[in-house]
Amino acid sequence: MKQNVIAIDGPAGSGKSTVAEKVAEILGFVYIDTGAMYRAVTARVLDGGFALTDLNHIAELAKRVRVRFSREQGSVHVWAEGVDVTEEIRNPEVTAAVAQVSQVPAVREAMIRLQREMAAEGAVVLDGRDIGTVVLPDACAKIFLTASVAERAQRRWLEMKEKGYELDLTALQQEMEKRDRQDSERELSPLILAEDAVLLDTTGVMISAVVDRVVNIYRERCNNA
Ligand code: DC
Repeated sequence: MKQNVIAIDGPAGSGKSTVAEKVAEILGFVYIDTGAMYRAVTARVLDGGFALTDLNHIAELAKRVRVRFSREQGSVHVWAEGVDVTEEIRNPEVTAAVAQVSQVPAVREAMIRLQREMAAEGAVVLDGRDIGTVVLPDACAKIFLTASVAERAQRRWLEMKEKGYELDLTALQQEMEKRDRQDSERELSPLILAEDAVLLDTTGVMISAVVDRVVNIYRERCNNA
């Protein structure tokens, strides 16, 4: 059992990153946003002008790319191949392409290796789709967050609006459902509930309550692990 490791999985908009970031802050842990890593590779694929079907180039890129996080004036920056991709990874083009890029076996292999390296020291919170099932199956605390698709779409819509993107809510919900399906039905590392994960439905629940619950689960499960 890996002490000091919290794995948070769940679909887009389930509150993973907000919860993971706050839990990490409370416990003094490092937060690793694995979705941002797949987005960073996707951004470099699009920047390089590669087609999403060009599996050879995507695999080559995934093998050489080093995705890094840095903290600057309190905010987290994401780097890939020496380029700061923090803003770019949230744009609609990257969002539309990431489920496809993250299915490429060489991409998963490279990212999982990096994630395990980053988690080796412990005192980490990782969020993603396959953390409790594939990346760190021996994490002492595993959480699976979910929420209704309508609420998840609404949350993402608000988040994008704050960034200056006016999206169509219905289209966003449809895109989210499509991405959920792609993430859950893919062969490698599908989004599924780990046997020993705690399932938390965040529909209509305040973030602070979810954060408290996750911290308590960590204290119950990990302190004597
Ligand atoms: O959490 P997010 O929306 O930023 O994730 C972006 C995409 O990356 C999502 O479509 C699924 C994929 N992903 C993954 O396959 N495995 C992870 N551990 C994290 C994200």
